[in-house]
Amino acid sequence: MPKLDILITRNIPGAALKLLRERFKVDIWPSDEVIPRPTLLSKIKDKDGVLCLLTDQINKEVLDKAGERLRVVSTISVGVDHVDTVECTKRGIKVGNTPDILTAATAELTVGLLISTSRRIVEGTHAARNGDWGAWKLMWMCGPTLDGATVGLFGLGRIGTAVVQRLKAFGVKKFLYNTANKKNNNFEKNLGVQFASFHDLLHESDFIISCCALNKSTAGIFNKNAFEKMKNSSIFINISRGGVVNQEDLYHALSHNIIRGAGIDVTTPEPLPTDHPLFSLKNCVVTPHIGSATEKTRMEMTMLAVQNLICGLDGTEMPAEYKQ
Ligand code: DGY
Repeated sequence: MPKLDILITRNIPGAALKLLRERFKVDIWPSDEVIPRPTLLSKIKDKDGVLCLLTDQINKEVLDKAGERLRVVSTISVGVDHVDTVECTKRGIKVGNTPDILTAATAELTVGLLISTSRRIVEGTHAARNGDWGAWKLMWMCGPTLDGATVGLFGLGRIGTAVVQRLKAFGVKKFLYNTANKKNNNFEKNLGVQFASFHDLLHESDFIISCCALNKSTAGIFNKNAFEKMKNSSIFINISRGGVVNQEDLYHALSHNIIRGAGIDVTTPEPLPTDHPLFSLKNCVVTPHIGSATEKTRMEMTMLAVQNLICGLDGTEMPAEYKQ
């Protein structure tokens, strides 16, 4: 039987590539940079499957170019906002993603952002380096603490749950949550979190963490209105997608002391241009979308996406098929 044709839109680790080459005729964009859109559109034609990243918009245009042979879209990410999953379902194309295995790494980075923003680690490092570190001063470089604080989670899926579990060790007094699925009594009992309306979550929390999926109902939800409901002393963290935040409003809130600080791992666009106003703020920590960036996690994500592609094309159960 002739081998099926697949497209890989980026360099992947050798072991993963070897596995795919044994099974399929592989067309790969052999680079660490994003595949140019015209190249993606021409290479996808007549492929049976595609292994892609969150930087590749797999929308109707790509699916049309692919033609009727395309049966599996496997993304090396848990987020699927770059894939038109509705259109894939309509066309009988299976979508695979990489949940669970990146939960711990992403929760870890969330804690890192909470601490580096509240305890001003990046600002302090710059001050020390720039010669602004004078005599030990009583109230210099102080910030808020998680100990005794109220933490509000917008989105309480796998990552949000793992964040709560980790933050318990920091003495957080109260966890509030708000999700698209509204109240979940199991969460409340097992995790010790309380449901709050979006308004109350913003109003009552000392730390607000966005760990929701990006979709129609969450796009731009952290806007002027939302920031104005937060405490002036609050810290905002975003580890989900840049699209949930109106960045102009965030800049305004940070530069006018409407909120105290922000730690964001995701932006719009990515990369965020180096002259973006958010980079000029001392109270904003920006990391370059590294939530899942441990070697172990990225390797596991790649291998899971490879297995999704193989099983999807074999017609067997995918280890992680994304279902609407
Ligand atoms: C994802 O997988 O969606 C993260 O944003 C990157 O690991």
